[in-house]
Amino acid sequence: MMRKAKIIGTGSYLPERVLTNSDLEKMVETSNEWIVTRTGIEERRVAGEGEFTSTMGAEAAKRAIELAGILPEEIDYILVATLTPDYIFPSTACLIQHAIGAKNAAGVDMQAACTGYLYALSMANAFIQAGIYKNVLVIAAEKLSSITDYTDRSTCILFGDGAAACVVSSLDKPGLSIESVRLGADGEHSQLIIQPGGGSRCPASIASVEQKQHYIKMSGNEVFKHAVRRMESACKECIDAVGVSEQEISWLVPHQANLRIIDAMAKRFEHLSSDRIYKTLHKYGNTSASSVGIALDELLRSKIVGTGEKLLLTAFGGGLTWGAALLKSEGVTG
Ligand code: UT7
Repeated sequence: MMRKAKIIGTGSYLPERVLTNSDLEKMVETSNEWIVTRTGIEERRVAGEGEFTSTMGAEAAKRAIELAGILPEEIDYILVATLTPDYIFPSTACLIQHAIGAKNAAGVDMQAACTGYLYALSMANAFIQAGIYKNVLVIAAEKLSSITDYTDRSTCILFGDGAAACVVSSLDKPGLSIESVRLGADGEHSQLIIQPGGGSRCPASIASVEQKQHYIKMSGNEVFKHAVRRMESACKECIDAVGVSEQEISWLVPHQANLRIIDAMAKRFEHLSSDRIYKTLHKYGNTSASSVGIALDELLRSKIVGTGEKLLLTAFGGGLTWGAALLKSEGVTG
């Protein structure tokens, strides 16, 4: 019999520094009105001096471990989803492992762009189901401000920094059971969201810096079209796999990329009132891999999720990648 995996604690961390739409109006040719109507974003957070992906991830991890009621030494494995690691190597997982004192844990970084949290959750789920580990720490952390071109109005208005974490466990504690996870990818469209420079294909050089190859480049419009379609099908496959109907979903926690994408998703779940579609987009913008995890942590900490309720998480991003996860609340964590 496969063991059941449960999220027994969540955490998140947002840097204090706020970058508002009016700040951006002073940096690029844009307006608060354009940003709000086209994206739904009002402000986003930006890492301060001395804040990195690892420090934000470590803080989110500590909060998740505390809520889970376990010790850092009880963590067996650390998965860090990020496209902005502190270094290419060593891994950010190793930096966090040391920072939080998880001295018995192995750790590795993984990258699935904005779908990173769900990809990591899926792996953690598999480790627990297979009985390989007891406690897997999932972290999604991004310092997108380090790869954002603040002269490119089509991208710089979107992104923010932040981190999320959860402890996925076989322990018999209250939490959210992982009922089903579905992931997808399509590398045919790999060029739609990309940081072209800094890898083996285009190593850092004077030319790569001059050509701004180390920043995020995105064909926003093209990505938009794929996003709704892919998240919709991932959600459907995810719930169909376990025989759950759309009517049984109590909460939708979507990737926070654009309010118009979320609204299009909401039309698919028309029995869900808008306050059951959890949004953080207006205050944090798009935090890539962290986005779904931050939203989930905030939702759970607001203590409005009842026992037995089903939560559907969904995300979409570069790769292209996409996914959905169905969770069932089995008591309040912590
Ligand atoms: O997290 C990973 C997944 N990412 C996403 O899901 C992002 C998906 N894409 C989007 O959210 C939207 O495509 C954007 C918000 C990025 C852009 O919105 P859009 O409605 O697709 O706008 P557009 O790119 O088609 O641009 C429309 C116009 C253009 O002007 P012209 O060519 O029509 O004269 C742009 O130059 O808006 C202009 N524009 C801006 N104007 C004022 C683009 N950015 C800005 C800006 N302020 N910041």
